[in-house]
Amino acid sequence: MVAPHGRQVNMSSGTADRTGGATEADNTFGFRAVPTPDKQRLVDAVFDKVAGRYDLMNDLMSAGLHRAWKDALVNWLAPPRATSLRYAVLDVAGGTGDIAFRIARRSESARVTVADINKEMLAVGEKRAAERGLADRVSFVEANAEALPFAAGAFDAVTIAFGIRNVPRIEVALAEMHRVLKPGGRFLCLEFSAVDVAALDRLYDFYSFNVVPRIGGWVVGDAEPYRYLVESIRKFPNQARFAAMIERAGFARVAVRNLAGGIVALHSGWKL
Ligand SMILES: C[S@@+](CC[C@H](N)C(=O)[O-])C[C@H]1O[C@@H](n2cnc3c(N)ncnc32)[C@H](O)[C@@H]1O
Repeated sequence: MVAPHGRQVNMSSGTADRTGGATEADNTFGFRAVPTPDKQRLVDAVFDKVAGRYDLMNDLMSAGLHRAWKDALVNWLAPPRATSLRYAVLDVAGGTGDIAFRIARRSESARVTVADINKEMLAVGEKRAAERGLADRVSFVEANAEALPFAAGAFDAVTIAFGIRNVPRIEVALAEMHRVLKPGGRFLCLEFSAVDVAALDRLYDFYSFNVVPRIGGWVVGDAEPYRYLVESIRKFPNQARFAAMIERAGFARVAVRNLAGGIVALHSGWKL
């Protein structure tokens, strides 16, 4: 695992903000209002707790659907299948490597860097890469999406799946992902979004708030991390608002595809 170049230092709790900025509750951790400097620490604690059971929980919570959603991201990305040119991909908040492995399997020319702030998630990912014989084409770097330790224009594509809503300063992360893309490079984001089917909406709410934390309690031994995950989904901007944020970060030709009635959405953009 590469050394943590990008981790920020002012994420500890307390009211002192070394940047001199405001420390009022200007952000959210699920439904709780929290100061931005505290959010990352709280998010990290969630993923520290769930890392060992993260992949199993994804299958249980989504009845395996997260696999189809991740496939949909890679299908839309359409990485070149065989080319002599190297295809450099950065998967931000890539956790245990699901997106990276799919891209590496699809494209022999792909070299995928998984960047994630959480050591526990990365350790699971590295082990899985070795088990899949992909360790030579998928590498793991501890890094904060808000301060990516890569040169401008380093990547042909940047992906992020179920990661952006956990990042305290979404605009900063979007700007960073834009910076590290080559001109002509592609950005793809998979994230939970706003359901646009009325009956499904109610069923989904019931399932999310009642069933998901209970499964978390059984499998991880603690319902709290899954309460956060469900609440954070409800706080995340809907499809149109998030598309506007992506445009403001400098991306062009921004397009959205809903999956499962808007339970999740794919956002695509280009650095032109
Ligand atoms: C729900 S998991 C998604 C993992 C993987 N992309 C997937 O789809 O299975 C969210 C990930 O975001 C990471 N994360 C949270 N805040 C981050 C930040 N500021 N920078 C980079 N990664 C972050 C967490 O450590 C966690 O691994």
